[in-house]
Amino acid sequence: MKEQGIYGAYAPYLPLILEDISQRIQQANQAHKQETGHKLFEHFNARVKTEASMLEKCQRKNLAPHPESALKTVRDAIGLRIVCGFIDDIYQTIEIIRQLEGCRIVAEKDYILAAKPNGYRSYHLIAELETPYEDCWGQKPGHYFVEIQLRTIAMDSWASLEHQMKYKQEIKDSKRIVRELKRCADELASCDLTMQTIRNLIQESE
Ligand code: GTP
Ligand code: MG
Repeated sequence: MKEQGIYGAYAPYLPLILEDISQRIQQANQAHKQETGHKLFEHFNARVKTEASMLEKCQRKNLAPHPESALKTVRDAIGLRIVCGFIDDIYQTIEIIRQLEGCRIVAEKDYILAAKPNGYRSYHLIAELETPYEDCWGQKPGHYFVEIQLRTIAMDSWASLEHQMKYKQEIKDSKRIVRELKRCADELASCDLTMQTIRNLIQESE
């Protein structure tokens, strides 16, 4: 018998669920572009967390290495990152996600309205999807969670660089590094607001 990983027998469903939700969100983006002439987002990233990193996360959180921990307690086995040009587009994309059939938003964190103390900004939501597949509780249709992160291009570049630096560093963050990173995040946030204002002005003058 094949050795099973932490996703157990449910592993093959995860890429299918990811593909389905990705397609539906991308179709909505296309439809929005045809209607309004502009797209809601610039980049779209989708991934299933590898079994190795899910196992590591469950161990870190003291969860038993079972499918239930990986698919019901931890809710980011399936993840999407959507990068928008403008702040308003983030909120519009969220409304589109809210309208998807069989999709229920069960948790939301607005780190745009309230940035993390380090300056991190993004909108995070957890969606619960009804799927044609069985889940680890034996329900069919089964329910699967997807973590969706929405950001502007500026927020995304800050988060990518900050993440890279966090990983590389062996010494503890100095007060100065923390302060400079925060200042940089706040400057980018101010640019996002200005870009939004510029777009509003252009739209008003059309
Ligand atoms: P986990 O899901 O266990 O990570 O914890 P949580 O529920 O506190 O998650 P939260 O919604 O705050 O963050 C989840 C994800 O957002 C992380 O896995 C990162 O991808 C991203 N994230 C959150 N905070 C930061 C941050 O300070 N810097 C960067 N670069 N990414 C962050
Ligand atoms: Mg996470």
